[in-house]
Amino acid sequence: MSLMEIKDLKVHYPIRGGFWNRVVDTVKAVDGVTFNLEAGETYGLVGESGSGKSTTAKAIIGLEKATSGTVTYKGKDVTKAQNRRELDYNHDVQMIFQDSLSSLNPRKRIEDIIAEPLRNFEHLSKNNEKLRVLQLLDIVGLDPDALYKYPHQFSGGQRQRIGVARAVATHPRLIIADEPVSALDLSVQAQVLNFMKKIQREFDISYLSISHDLGVVRHMCNHIAIMNKGRIVEMGTREDIYQHPMHIYTKRLLAAIPETNVNHREEHRQHRLQIEKIYQEQQQTYYDQEGMAFPLVKISATHSVALPPEQATQYQNQANREEVSI
Ligand SMILES: Nc1ncnc2c1ncn2[C@@H]1O[C@H](COP(=O)(O)OP(=O)(O)O)[C@@H](O)[C@H]1O
Ligand SMILES: [Mg+2]
Repeated sequence: MSLMEIKDLKVHYPIRGGFWNRVVDTVKAVDGVTFNLEAGETYGLVGESGSGKSTTAKAIIGLEKATSGTVTYKGKDVTKAQNRRELDYNHDVQMIFQDSLSSLNPRKRIEDIIAEPLRNFEHLSKNNEKLRVLQLLDIVGLDPDALYKYPHQFSGGQRQRIGVARAVATHPRLIIADEPVSALDLSVQAQVLNFMKKIQREFDISYLSISHDLGVVRHMCNHIAIMNKGRIVEMGTREDIYQHPMHIYTKRLLAAIPETNVNHREEHRQHRLQIEKIYQEQQQTYYDQEGMAFPLVKISATHSVALPPEQATQYQNQANREEVSI
């Protein structure tokens, strides 16, 4: 059984307007997202800004109400608050936010910030609590004197590590990290990601890492879903996505990863221009009349793509023939 099953999740926001403040339109922030999360695995959810990644994360954790669809954890639908309470869901699933300065209470000391989830869910003695917090600081590579400081006394990278320490304090089953490092310098990003990996090995945690940059999740995630305008357009293993991308949107995101090797810069620039040309030519065929992506088609055991209808039929026919020949 999967750790978590997300099925046809939708979050639609009404837009009100006019004199009567009636609902005049809806924003389909998330529009039919389906995927499973397995225990101890690392997933990436990638797409440009506005594609619905944060809303998906918030609906999974219960910070945003789902319009429809289900999120099943331990056999119960945790889009319902009652079920979340019964399962102590917010003990098992934690979130790390992009902006560590606004997500850490500026008036609280680090000791209290990290201990907060422990105080909510585990009733430890003062001494044991302090020991746990010191252990957590050690895991994320911060000195014990951090205990008595406030968030503004740390650098961005250090604050993000404090966020990681707080998220792992209760030994959760799943951590959702929403662009945890995108505000940081490259070298600090690598550091924070390494801490997250180390902690994952230690506590057997699943990660759902959200990013707008396919370069960031490459070293971190074994499974990747590409999101575009509220829908998943391609989903597969790291190899499927980086070696055999099929959706035009995925190809474009891949071409947008900056080339760090100076010797390959010109080659990379040419490649990006070429992909951009193909994107401009073929773009419409990959979306329906409303501009939404098509349903996902399974093209291998691990790889699914929102292919245009003609291509989808080809794959389905091929799959049928293979079934017959077996
Ligand atoms: N509370 C809200 N009310 C109306 N629209 C929203 C709200 N929150 C997000 N949206 C819209 O939903 C879409 C997806 O947003 P978001 O999930 O934040 O995307 P991402 O995290 O991929 O950048 C965007 O068009 C955004 O403007
Ligand atoms: Mg976001």
